[in-house]
Formats: sequence, C-alpha cells, structure tokens
Amino acid sequence: MSEAQRSQTTPRLESAGSPELTTSPQPASADAMAAVVAPQYGTSAVLRTEVVDRPNPRVDEVLVRVRAAAVCQGDVHLLTGKPYLLRLGFGLRRPKDPIIGHDLAGEVVAVGRDVTEFRPGDTVFGSVNSGAFAEYVCVSSRRLAATPAGLTIEEAAALPDSGMTALQGLRDTGGLGAGQSVLINGASGGVGSAAVQIAKALGAEVTAVCSTRHVEAVRALGADQVIDYTTEDFAATDRRYDVLFDLAGNRSLRDYRKVLAPKGVFVSSAAAPDADWIGPVVWMAKVMLANLFTSRRLAVLLMSPRREDLEFLAELAATGKFRPLIEKRYPVAQAAAAVQHVADGHAQGKTVLAI
Ligand SMILES: NC(=O)c1ccc[n+]([C@@H]2O[C@H](COP(=O)([O-])OP(=O)(O)OC[C@H]3O[C@@H](n4cnc5c(N)ncnc54)[C@H](OP(=O)(O)O)[C@@H]3O)[C@@H](O)[C@H]2O)c1
Repeated sequence: MSEAQRSQTTPRLESAGSPELTTSPQPASADAMAAVVAPQYGTSAVLRTEVVDRPNPRVDEVLVRVRAAAVCQGDVHLLTGKPYLLRLGFGLRRPKDPIIGHDLAGEVVAVGRDVTEFRPGDTVFGSVNSGAFAEYVCVSSRRLAATPAGLTIEEAAALPDSGMTALQGLRDTGGLGAGQSVLINGASGGVGSAAVQIAKALGAEVTAVCSTRHVEAVRALGADQVIDYTTEDFAATDRRYDVLFDLAGNRSLRDYRKVLAPKGVFVSSAAAPDADWIGPVVWMAKVMLANLFTSRRLAVLLMSPRREDLEFLAELAATGKFRPLIEKRYPVAQAAAAVQHVADGHAQGKTVLAI
C-alpha cells in the first residue's frame, strides 16, 4: 500500500461482523468505499468487509475503480503475518495496511499530477503491495499497464503477480531462451500455469510437474511433457534441464542440482514450507553457499513489479500466447473462501474475485 493510502485509508465504520463476509456494508458517502480487511493476523476467518475512506492518489499514482482482483500467496503471507520476519515491514502486532490484495484490474478514476500515461476511463491492470480487495485503490503508475485486448477483466486481474514472477524467473534470472529445456516444479498453480505458457512463448521445451488432478489442464497450457509427482519422481530420472524453475519448495538442493545440465540454472521462487520464522532467509543463505561449489548457477528470485513486464505480458496475451488459467471465481462477499482456497496450496491456476 502506498503512503497515501496508509494515511488516508482508515476504517471508519463497524465491521460487517461476518468472518465469511456474507454481508457487505454499503459505503455511506461518495468518499467512502467497502474493502476486505484483516484487522489482525490469522486465518481467512479474520477477514471482514469494512467501510473505509476512499484513498486519494499521490502525484505519481492512479486511482483505480477495482472490477476484479486475484488472490496470490503474497496475500496469504500478509494475512498470516508469516514468516514472522515479514512483520517488521507489515506491522509487528497487526497489519498496518489491513486491506489485503495485490493483483487488480479496473478503470482509472483519477490520476496524480505527474501521471501522463493514463487517463480517467482507461482500463488497466497491475499490482500493489496491499489494498486491491477494495472498491478503489491507488496504484503507482509504474505498476500499471493498459488491459490487453482479448482478456476479460478477471483474466487481466489474474495476470500481474504470477505473470511477472514467471517472466522474471524464466527470462531474467533463468536466461531461458529458444531451444532450451526447462523443468517447472509446481506447474499447476498461479505462477506455474503462467510459467508453462511463457516458457513456450520463449521457445523452450517444457517439462511440467504437478499432481494427477492438474495433468490435463497443464498439458492444455502447452507443456511438452507432464510429470505427475504422485506417481513419478522428476529427480529419479537421467533427464537434465537447462533451467529448473521451482515453485513448490518441497525438495532438497541436492535433488534440484541433480537434474541440472552442467551449465544449468536453478531458479527458486519458493522457500521451504516450514519456514515460519525467518522464512526464505535461511534458504537463500543455503542457495548462495551451494553456489560456490557448483558449475551450475543457483538463484533465489525476488519478483519486482514493473510496467515494462506488464506490457510484455499484455503483448503475449494480445497475440494469444498467454491467457491466465482461472479455476475458481468468487464474489467479493466470499473473499475469505477465495483466500482459503489459495492458502490450502493446491489451487489450479488463479483464483479471482469480482469486486
Ligand atoms: N519469489 C517471489 O518473488 C515470488 C512471487 C510470487 C510467488 N512466490 C512463491 O512461489 C510459490 C508458488 O506460487 P503460486 O502463486 O504458484 O502458488 P499456488 O498457486 O498456491 O501454487 C502452488 C502449486 O504448488 C504445487 N505443489 C504443491 N505441492 C507440490 C509438490 N509436492 N510437487 C509439485 N508441486 C506441488 C501445487 O500443485 P498440486 O495441487 O498439484 O499439488 C500448486 O499448484 C509460492 O511459494 C509463492 O509464495 C514467490
């Protein structure tokens, strides 16, 4: 959430009362809005809708009327406050930016003085650090792009976090190019389902790892081979890959290294799931240390949102090379159920909210 929102978006009415968000309060005036709020850290049961002040854009921000939002694992981290280390930034005792949500698509309502790229009425998509599960949100103009032709508003909302993570992981960190081979571990989730399509668009040969339920969906995204991890172990074959993009964090570094070609690159986007306290820090240290003792390259990805990447992804979408996979859609009144579905860790593709 921006500084502007932090100072100007404050809860001002009683909560709707239902943790399941079965009722949504109506904004009382034009400068109020409804938002999905986590007043404390916890499970999806702490989420509720509240009426809060509508934010005002700073000079470099755009006020967007949110039409759709997508749930990502980052929302789950914000909600649970785990790994605990994150609370140094999120708020020690409770979330200091209580409106959750990263990914959104909607219409521009107003722009800050320095914004020249967007005008009221434009349809845009992008990401914020928090605040997307609300009727309005202020977004830095550097984290927005025009919605691509051919995508629904829900598909556009499903694109930013997963699309940029997959793009930066494969193209920038992995250096994946035409004719190379890539193994995607966790290929059926939000990032994985984007990664399969982006890797194909980059000209790579894709081997995707997922569970039985998702095999057909992942094949339909364009994967050349699909490994069902419930019946086959990708680390137990002789196959070697130029890039391994890991989104599951469920194997040892030894296993990951084993399947890399001699000059291969391991891109880690997920820390071990038991990393409650300092989370990815231990994992990052392990990866950096292991790097010193191998000809392969081992890297930990930290996605950084930027407009150029949103535009690159929009172009892929406009040319039919990338379409976010959406398994489930929820009305905003069921935001808690949507977040829980993602928190459970086995969603297929993206989970979206209509706002
Ligand atoms: N580094 C960054 O900047 C960054 C940015 C975004 C996300 N992330 C991280 O990247 C990871 C993936 O994110 P996401 O949005 O794709 O999450 P997601 O939508 O929840 O997907 C997770 C996927 O992991 C799969 N999975 C679970 N256990 C598995 C196993 N044993 N073997 C293979 N796959 C397994 C699940 O598939 P099944 O249902 O088939 O088990 C599911 O599809 C998360 O850890 C997230 O926190 C990092």
